[in-house]
Amino acid sequence: MSVVASILMRMFGRPTGTLGRLGGITMAHTNKGCAAWVIDLLDIHPNDRVLEVGFGPGVGIELLTRSVSEGYVAGIDSSEEMVEQAKARNTKAIKNGRVDLRCGSAESLPFEDFFFDKVLAINSMQVWPDVPAGLREMRRVLKTGGRIALGFTPYSGQSKDVLPEMLTAAGFTEAHVVEADQGFCALTIKP
Ligand SMILES: C[S@@+](CC[C@H](N)C(=O)[O-])C[C@H]1O[C@@H](n2cnc3c(N)ncnc32)[C@H](O)[C@@H]1O
Repeated sequence: MSVVASILMRMFGRPTGTLGRLGGITMAHTNKGCAAWVIDLLDIHPNDRVLEVGFGPGVGIELLTRSVSEGYVAGIDSSEEMVEQAKARNTKAIKNGRVDLRCGSAESLPFEDFFFDKVLAINSMQVWPDVPAGLREMRRVLKTGGRIALGFTPYSGQSKDVLPEMLTAAGFTEAHVVEADQGFCALTIKP
């Protein structure tokens, strides 16, 4: 990996140390519009159980709590730095038991089968070490008929063309990609 790629990975891909802290602050500002757009596409209901994988600095989690007034919002991120920043951003909702943020990986989600109504990941899937395993886990924890959104900003490095096939191979149905100024988002359903 080149020096630049390694710095970018420590800032944004798997945020660590001082670079990771700076990356988190940057992402909190630059990715908020995309997070709001993706959450809107998911058609969240007030009593939904929602999981965000790779929540970074926790801006998406904060937005989700506004839509999920009676349900439950959970998050998993593999970076201790990001868990710390996201917890600081969502202290009140965590205290009230409405939000549960944990350090962990997409490939091994610490949740029961058929638990969530909606699962999302923004700018995260492209850095998972094992994407098929992460998608299998998302499918496992989702209820039948539950929905997934995989959102990406235009500079994420993710190719949009491969997403429907990838999701279909992981056992999802009606996979399609929508685009807007904020980026693109793959939407699909657990049959
Ligand atoms: C580019 S950041 C995006 C953060 C946030 N979603 C946003 O859009 O601002 C990618 C995030 O995914 C997390 N991540 C990377 N690999 C992961 C994995 N295998 N499981 C869970 N989270 C992961 C990173 O720690 C990081 O917080």
